[in-house]
Amino acid sequence: MKAAQSSDGILVDRYGRVARDLRVSLTDKCNLRCTYCMPAEGLPWLAGPELLTDDEIVRLVRVAVQRLGVTEVRFTGGEPLIRPGLVGIVAAVAALDPRPRISLTTNGIGLDRLAPALRAAGLDRVNVSLDTLDAARFTELTRRPRLDAVLAGMAGAAAAGLTPVKINSVLMRGVNDDEAPALLRFALAHGYELRFIEQMPLDAQHGWDRAAMVTADEILASLRREFDLRTDPAERGSAPAETWLVDGGPARVGVIASVTRPFCGDCDRTRLTADGQVRACLFATEESDLRGALRAGADDEDLADRWRRAMWGKRAGHGIDDPTFLQPARPMSAIGG
Ligand code: GTP
Ligand code: 5AD
Ligand code: SF4
Repeated sequence: MKAAQSSDGILVDRYGRVARDLRVSLTDKCNLRCTYCMPAEGLPWLAGPELLTDDEIVRLVRVAVQRLGVTEVRFTGGEPLIRPGLVGIVAAVAALDPRPRISLTTNGIGLDRLAPALRAAGLDRVNVSLDTLDAARFTELTRRPRLDAVLAGMAGAAAAGLTPVKINSVLMRGVNDDEAPALLRFALAHGYELRFIEQMPLDAQHGWDRAAMVTADEILASLRREFDLRTDPAERGSAPAETWLVDGGPARVGVIASVTRPFCGDCDRTRLTADGQVRACLFATEESDLRGALRAGADDEDLADRWRRAMWGKRAGHGIDDPTFLQPARPMSAIGG
């Protein structure tokens, strides 16, 4: 039986899924140029007036938390650490009643410097992207020589108590697919929680090739040559990552297998882009314009209602396997993962 659209309260879709996890992209810009994400010259960035102001972001997050039942807020990018108002935005969101849990997904550059202020502002934890531990390879892959900055960022986050520090790694065939065990050894040695992400068709260049994608099964086989992996008894809930206990635990490793083991049926996510569009799904081809409504004077309940309607239209799944699949116009770097 299908659920009914809620006219007050929560963000529910026609399949009965409830969105409690809001992912807010703070900028589409980035200080790296990962080859699987962006071309070397970057992308046509959003123009200043198109971006939500800090106050507009906080207002929309408040609407989500106070009227729509959102309990988790994650800031993403592009690279969120390059948004000048980040610390103030975190502080304002942490001051909301009820206070949501607050996390950040970042490439880690500059995090060593910013971590104490972010922690003091109310940030709970961070996820840092790292695809290789080899400096030359890092430079080739991200087109910037910043491996040391990323490693320092992770260490700074852990020292500031932004824990658990999770690492996101994308493996690419012939590029870094030999590095899964080394990345796990590194994560275990530092107390970070590593997750591998299957590459998705969200790159700006539209170069994704299913046959070239390193699958969850391949990643697990590679890890099992060196580690004992057992099913994690902890409840997965709506998390994208499926996790395993490493060598008896308590350390864990995860795989986010959006392509070969999709998890859309349990999705609890709603997304807000840096220019104020609600996306019901990472792969949505439609967006709902909250910025326009907000700037035209809509009140909080009107904004909440637009958000509910946007989520009601969420599709059952991402449809990557459908012959009719269309990659969304907005690339990953402008949605935030
Ligand atoms: P925690 O485990 O709670 O820290 O969160 P998370 O894994 O959702 O956060 P993170 O931002 O680190 O996400 C890691 C990656 O998971 C993203 O970059 C995406 O590749 C993928 N991901 C997150 N949410 C979704 C989703 O709704 N759909 C799909 N297909 N992938 C997602
Ligand atoms: N598929 C899967 N993950 C991706 N990321 C960037 N582009 C893709 C893609 N096409 C990852 C980054 C980062 C996180 C935010 O998303 O590596 O860890
Ligand atoms: Fe930047 Fe992340 Fe894209 Fe790399 S994957 S270019 S770190 S937004």
